[in-house]
Amino acid sequence: MGKVHLQDKDLKKKKREFSLVRVKDTWKCKQGTKIKRDAVDCVSPAKIFERNTANGTTWTVQSPIVFTYTVTESQSLLDPSNDTLLLGHITDPQHLEEFKKSLKPIKRFVVVDQDVYQIYGPKLTEYLKANNVQYKLLALPTTEENKSMEMVLKILEEVNDFSLDRRTEPIIAIGGGVCLDIVGLAASLYRRRTPYIRVPTTLLSYIDASLGAKTGVNFAQCKNKLGAYIPPVAAFLDLTFIQTNPRRHISNGLAEMLKMALMKHRGLFELLEKQGRMLLDTKFQADSSVCGHNGLQAASQATYIAITVMLEELAPNLWEDDLNRLVDFGHLISPALEMKVLPSLLHGEAVNIDMSYMVYVSKESGLLSEEEKQRIIRCMVDLELPVWHEACTMELIQKSLQDRLKHSGGLVRMPLPVGLGKAEIFNNTTSEVLHRAYEKWCHDLGVSSDNQDD
Ligand SMILES: NC(=O)c1ccc[n+]([C@@H]2O[C@H](COP(=O)([O-])OP(=O)(O)OC[C@H]3O[C@@H](n4cnc5c(N)ncnc54)[C@H](O)[C@@H]3O)[C@@H](O)[C@H]2O)c1
Ligand SMILES: [Zn+2]
Repeated sequence: MGKVHLQDKDLKKKKREFSLVRVKDTWKCKQGTKIKRDAVDCVSPAKIFERNTANGTTWTVQSPIVFTYTVTESQSLLDPSNDTLLLGHITDPQHLEEFKKSLKPIKRFVVVDQDVYQIYGPKLTEYLKANNVQYKLLALPTTEENKSMEMVLKILEEVNDFSLDRRTEPIIAIGGGVCLDIVGLAASLYRRRTPYIRVPTTLLSYIDASLGAKTGVNFAQCKNKLGAYIPPVAAFLDLTFIQTNPRRHISNGLAEMLKMALMKHRGLFELLEKQGRMLLDTKFQADSSVCGHNGLQAASQATYIAITVMLEELAPNLWEDDLNRLVDFGHLISPALEMKVLPSLLHGEAVNIDMSYMVYVSKESGLLSEEEKQRIIRCMVDLELPVWHEACTMELIQKSLQDRLKHSGGLVRMPLPVGLGKAEIFNNTTSEVLHRAYEKWCHDLGVSSDNQDD
């Protein structure tokens, strides 16, 4: 026993750290971290660690990969004189200058949601023609029911036929969250990673699905079971697309906005409380109502705050390694609920039902006052969001939390509001609180919980 211990200690001593330097075209390991920079052309941020073990050598490669992407608001994206859609992802002024000088024709593969194509197809075609773009426009029925690997493969076949340069010709996705998620996954797979651009056309995708790194499709009856964490090179946001969203889809997007308000921003909650209905009525288009602070109108103020607080949560945790995520509020039970009743509930609606129940959990845990709870539920109702659903049974809640337990390190991490616009993550909510909250939730908002299958 003692001998083995000694041997371990000896082996530990043999761990060596190497920096990686390039001289001309060759990379070389240099032991240690002190490098004479003038003797080399480049020092990589990567490192290699070497350790001898009883059975041989272990090499540990540490290779920091930085993802940089831009989220840009731009009005009139489809105005032929606005080159954001084609060149806005090139952030280096020198590259942009070189590109413009090269007179190389612009080539783009564009996937657009079929319903969006019905409305904006002529404008989009005119835009691409006016800018002499060599393009392939693929209009697809990117619905939640079609959010599958088959749709990804269909896109990939067309991409392959079109033959684009994966370094300089990003794929463009124009549509709601479903379209952006499917195209993002297709792009991540094509030649291992082809850059792509997101253009959200629903409120939900404007303030949520276009901001992070997640792509995905449904698989084995589970939401977004297949996917990747690869951000787009850019997301271009044009609020005018939202004006043609059906009213129900504005409410749908407002649910994700309310999520961020409840978790992080009391000001946004109060704005939604006071002006949410007006935003729903005007579909986030320029309004003549009272200006918010900073002189921004309510629509741009609300989207500005929602995007800023969302990016603040996403950027430090792009790959979701940290399981303590406030953005998961409303997303513990809703995935199973959404899949169970598909297509009757929209994503944001399922999220809202989950949030509504969790607000009761918060109240029963002593984290929210009765008045705060009522204000939140009233705000949800004003935004025309469902606050209860018969398919959200105690059985489904328990099963969702059990599943969560399996996938998040043996703890159910539950983001809960602790007042208005503030939240914390809890992992000790008791079954008794969950049941009591469920009874009250059903009593106040739904039918009697007696006939719910527990
Ligand atoms: N990747 C992420 O981080 C992330 C975040 C949140 C949600 N999502 C995903 O997003 C999806 C939900 O997105 P969604 O709510 O945008 O749904 P969606 O993509 O299904 O779009 C909703 C409907 O609106 C139509 N539509 C889109 N733009 C329109 C426009 N400008 N005018 C008229 N009709 C328009 C679409 O054809 C569709 O019928 C879910 O699959 C969800 O999993 C992903
Ligand atoms: Zn969501």
